[in-house]
Amino acid sequence: NKGNYEHYMQKEIHEQPESLKTTMRGRLIRGGSCKAKTVLLGGLKDHFKTIRRSRRIVFIGCGTSYNAALAARPILEELSGVPVTMEIASDLLDRQGPIYREDTAVFVSQSGETADTLQALEYALENGALCVGITNTVGSAIARHTHCGVHINAGAEIGVASTKAYTSQIVVMAMLALAIGGDTISSQTRREAIIDGLFDLPNKVREVLNLDQEMKDLAKLLIAEQSLLMFGRGYNYATALEGALKVKEVALMHSEGILAGEMKHGPLALVDENLPIIVIATRDSCFSKQQSVIQQLHARKGRVIVMCSKGEAVSVCPGGLGRVIEVPHVEDCLQPVINVVPLQLLAYHLTVLRGYNVDQPRNLAKSVTTQ
Ligand code: UD1
Ligand code: BG6
Repeated sequence: NKGNYEHYMQKEIHEQPESLKTTMRGRLIRGGSCKAKTVLLGGLKDHFKTIRRSRRIVFIGCGTSYNAALAARPILEELSGVPVTMEIASDLLDRQGPIYREDTAVFVSQSGETADTLQALEYALENGALCVGITNTVGSAIARHTHCGVHINAGAEIGVASTKAYTSQIVVMAMLALAIGGDTISSQTRREAIIDGLFDLPNKVREVLNLDQEMKDLAKLLIAEQSLLMFGRGYNYATALEGALKVKEVALMHSEGILAGEMKHGPLALVDENLPIIVIATRDSCFSKQQSVIQQLHARKGRVIVMCSKGEAVSVCPGGLGRVIEVPHVEDCLQPVINVVPLQLLAYHLTVLRGYNVDQPRNLAKSVTTQ
């Protein structure tokens, strides 16, 4: 049921304030004045000891689910102190890469049925790793075959291009980081800021959804482009990959997410007056590096569109050069949840304006159950 919406993708983008609430329901505890704020993940409570003692955490997934894990990686590294590595399921299988008994392997999948991810799970089980699932589908193959896990509870997702599952996956992995990380005095302020940020996140997502018309206008401007680049780094490297994946999947336009730190090592050669480039430069520890990326793009007459924190247009666009997308500022590790929303909207509007099928893009399936 699409309700008042024309497409499932549109509905699923706009219901993210609600789906995020459902994801967090009963899992975030904000006690009274003397009671600590905590996270409760029922599906993992008997396994945290093992996870904390593991030699590393390996995230495994495909497509959007892989990107969600990439977005959560920095906060998991920071709070858990355990090394975190990333594997695209098919690549792990191609290499028969090392998975050990001392590893915690985390399988991220909206459908819970993706063949590549499922086969990587079988491989990790054979190798003796603790296997954790992060899935949206109760009773799915990955939910059943993992030792334990967390259901993201985002509600059924119908649009082939994943949107609300992505933001709920990130939130679950941020909660996972809080739950694994020890409640040390030194990390207390940080943990509380993240928990407060999680509580307020649905409101902030509602706020960023107000950019709908602005993103439609931007889509009109980009409708006939051959290609669109997105530059991100740190917490928002994943946002660049995911934004580009959305544009590719549904708008059938070439788009690449690029790690901004790699700009000088190749991508800079592509920069001219025509190629549109979205640079994600919201306020965090990478901000000044992104400012210098923007300067270098301007110096080469690049066609730059900057995503920045609200009120910071002047510091990212000196002299009013280029277009900006201003988004609400949240705790750095939660910023990917906010920043992806305008890109989802952009991909959606580009698709409608270009006249393509939004919910069933050419050649793609919601769940790829064959290899
Ligand atoms: C569970 C109930 C929820 C109830 C809540 C009350 C289910 C599906 N969930 O939620 O309805 O309101 O208790 O305390 O009945 N699991 C995996 N692999 C996965 C995902 C989950 O093995 O990929 C396992 C978990 O380890 C857990 C079970 O499935 O044993 C349910 O997981 P989840 O729904 O996340 O647990 P709760 O949030 O505690
Ligand atoms: C397919 C979908 O390729 O599978 C993508 O078209 C999705 O949107 C990917 O991200 C992974 O799916 P899942 O269900 O494992 O998260």
